[in-house]
Amino acid sequence: MEKLIELKNLVKHYPILGGILRHQVNAVQALDGINLDILKGECLGLVGESGCGKTTTGKAIVKLHEATSGEINFHLKKKDGSTEVKDIVPMSNRMLKKSGIRGKLQMVFQDPTTSMNPRMLIKNIIAEPINEVENLKSREMESRVKKLLNTVGLGEQHLLRYPHEFSGGQRQRLAVARAIATNPDFIVLDEPTSALDVSVQAQILNLLKDLQQQLGMTYLFVTHHLLVVKYISTRIAVMYLGKIVETAKTADLFKTPFHPYTFALLSAIPNANIDKKSSRIILEGDVPSPLNPPKGCRFHPRCPFAIEQCRTVEPQLEDVGNGQAAACHRKEDVPKLVKDKFNFYFKN
Ligand SMILES: Nc1ncnc2c1ncn2[C@@H]1O[C@H](COP(=O)(O)OP(=O)(O)OP(=O)(O)O)[C@@H](O)[C@H]1O
Ligand SMILES: [Mg+2]
Repeated sequence: MEKLIELKNLVKHYPILGGILRHQVNAVQALDGINLDILKGECLGLVGESGCGKTTTGKAIVKLHEATSGEINFHLKKKDGSTEVKDIVPMSNRMLKKSGIRGKLQMVFQDPTTSMNPRMLIKNIIAEPINEVENLKSREMESRVKKLLNTVGLGEQHLLRYPHEFSGGQRQRLAVARAIATNPDFIVLDEPTSALDVSVQAQILNLLKDLQQQLGMTYLFVTHHLLVVKYISTRIAVMYLGKIVETAKTADLFKTPFHPYTFALLSAIPNANIDKKSSRIILEGDVPSPLNPPKGCRFHPRCPFAIEQCRTVEPQLEDVGNGQAAACHRKEDVPKLVKDKFNFYFKN
């Protein structure tokens, strides 16, 4: 499959200011060298514990946050059918607009209540991103907004309402309408269903799936809910403390994980495809602080199988199976170690 976005050694450090002069005293190393390809038309799930850098990755790609260094190469399809590859990290907002990339990248947030201005009417909320990239007359704009509302299962009776006059599920539909308003190629969905109750979650997931097929969009689906990601994603990337530790097609990841951290995540799912007798892999200790990440393999302080080498040598991503995994120092032995220590294994 063709690539749409390539992240190359992407780094995002949030400065921590201190002292009387408020100068930088430290930095949160939220992303520390991410290498990841996002393929055209796929839904890539991004999973990992709270604070590992999932939202930061999404925000860096859609340029809500400036990356500290590295490349985000966007494959832009031009009108004549040719493709141009552009690194968007150094591009200003003006350059993004001029090159036509601005409207191609969108994001939907977890909490639709806080992501919409409570004083704006729905018709203006949805028109806002369109105004950023196009000049439409008011009548044209209104018909475009009506069409978008219909696409997400709402109607023109909602045009003159405020965000608080909707249910949570409807508000997330509005957020989706706003995200697709500029005909984007790529949408970051940051926990779009986590704040909703289960039946509404299913409706929104199905809406997102249908829209992806109809409009040929590519998704980065951020979540820590592995069953949701199993349902919606074609491929999954697992993150730990600012690094990608494993990527694989969804079915492969659930069948044959490579990295000890992936095993631990999978063992936490109730009713996963594992034997009933399997027990959960309980990780000891807390996630280390991204202010001062551990040397060597970042997972070593919590890894039940760490050896001396893990404390000093940082594993790099390498090709395994149909995907990639950090070259864990115990790699061939991991499945057996997991089975012996935790009696955790997959049925097939
Ligand atoms: N604007 C900011 N300024 C400083 N630090 C930040 C900022 N945004 C995020 N961080 C820090 O960066 C790290 C990664 O945060 P991020 O929001 O990307 O995590 P996450 O994986 O999305 O977590 P969650 O699952 O809880 O949403 C965290 O340690 C967080 O405290
Ligand atoms: Mg987040």
